Amino acid sequence: MSKWVPVQAGHLQCFHNPKADSQMAYGTDRQAILSVKKAKLALDTITRWPNYKVTPLHDLSAMADQANVKKVYYKDESTRFGLKSFKALGGAFAVTRFLQQHIGNLTGSEPSMDELLSGQYKHQLKDVVVSCATDGNHGRSVAWGAKMFGCQCIIYIHRDVSAGRQAAMEAYGAQVIRIAGNYDESVRQAATEAQANNRVIISDTSYEGYTEIPANVALGYTVMLAEIVAQLKDEIPTHVFVQAGVGGLAAAVCGYFWDLWGTQRPRFIVVEPEAANCLQVSAKAGELRVVEGDLDTLMAGLACGEVSQIAWQILAQGSDDFITLSEDAIAESMIALQRNTPSIEGGESAVAGLAACLVAAGNSEWREELGLNDQSSVLVLGTEGATDPELYQQLVFGEV
Ligand SMILES: Cc1ncc(COP(=O)(O)O)c(C=O)c1O
Repeated sequence: MSKWVPVQAGHLQCFHNPKADSQMAYGTDRQAILSVKKAKLALDTITRWPNYKVTPLHDLSAMADQANVKKVYYKDESTRFGLKSFKALGGAFAVTRFLQQHIGNLTGSEPSMDELLSGQYKHQLKDVVVSCATDGNHGRSVAWGAKMFGCQCIIYIHRDVSAGRQAAMEAYGAQVIRIAGNYDESVRQAATEAQANNRVIISDTSYEGYTEIPANVALGYTVMLAEIVAQLKDEIPTHVFVQAGVGGLAAAVCGYFWDLWGTQRPRFIVVEPEAANCLQVSAKAGELRVVEGDLDTLMAGLACGEVSQIAWQILAQGSDDFITLSEDAIAESMIALQRNTPSIEGGESAVAGLAACLVAAGNSEWREELGLNDQSSVLVLGTEGATDPELYQQLVFGEV
């Protein structure tokens, strides 16, 4: 007997991007931020890290049948480097690049990845302090990268980050500072205190004058995309649903596929929580806008009110649709994945793209709006596992 649980709850608000043009070339300005060529460095580096393993791409056939589409592919990042999220790739890669450049400045030549890992530069690295603000997953990656190469790490978290997420970063030796404000305020405090104390900010979000490191973070994510392309063999999906916080992930996915597949690229759909829809609000305004307030959502990794500037340079014309997803679709989608064969561990932020696809596919108006039909082949990114184990138990098994 099938243990499949249909995803029925949930509501979408779709905004079709008038600036999107499927015939537009990716172009050199966007390639300067992220390109398939640049991504090769990330692939060469990250595949040399200890315990590197390709993560699974699941073909969710029962869900595709239920949704009346041809395919639903789910890239499962719940096991990435034992950190349980795709973010392991980004922050730690940016730490690697920064440390290589730092040693290069001191000695006149950049060490290779293997030399950096060997511990031979530990005296030069032990006083270097990397820092960032995070809602959990990015900070875990930066802390892990710092530990891997032997430098120090100070992480800022906002008032709503769970104790479990804090402990996970402390387990990698990071000092964690909790502030009273929201995510965007933690970004600003981390930046101010880094400047005063000679720390290096490794942020996954970019702003005026600070773009190189976040671009490296996004390059790190492309390892997941290179894996997907190999796993799909020659198939190009018709749709990609990607959840967004500051938009760094969405920009990496959109930019990489746009550069690789050109005009054959899939329809690209950004998914955000209703309470933290800074990309949708910006797309409607035709320019960057900030969403204020508590940004209160179950999808902790997506609780961001300010778009990353470099991400916007790719998504402003690259994303076909910006949609918001209501909170009630999340638990159902996590349960559906847990009961799938094979069982898949998907955290609250991981399932947003899948949930949006299933909710859209179940409603004729949204189906039409997003061009979904029985020939559609949909890719979604399961960006995390149970990174907040207590909340996962509560939402999936009803255990409090
Ligand atoms: C699990 C998960 N998925 C998606 C995202 C969104 O990434 P971005 O902030 O780059 O848009 C995050 C961000 O922290 C995350 O933790």
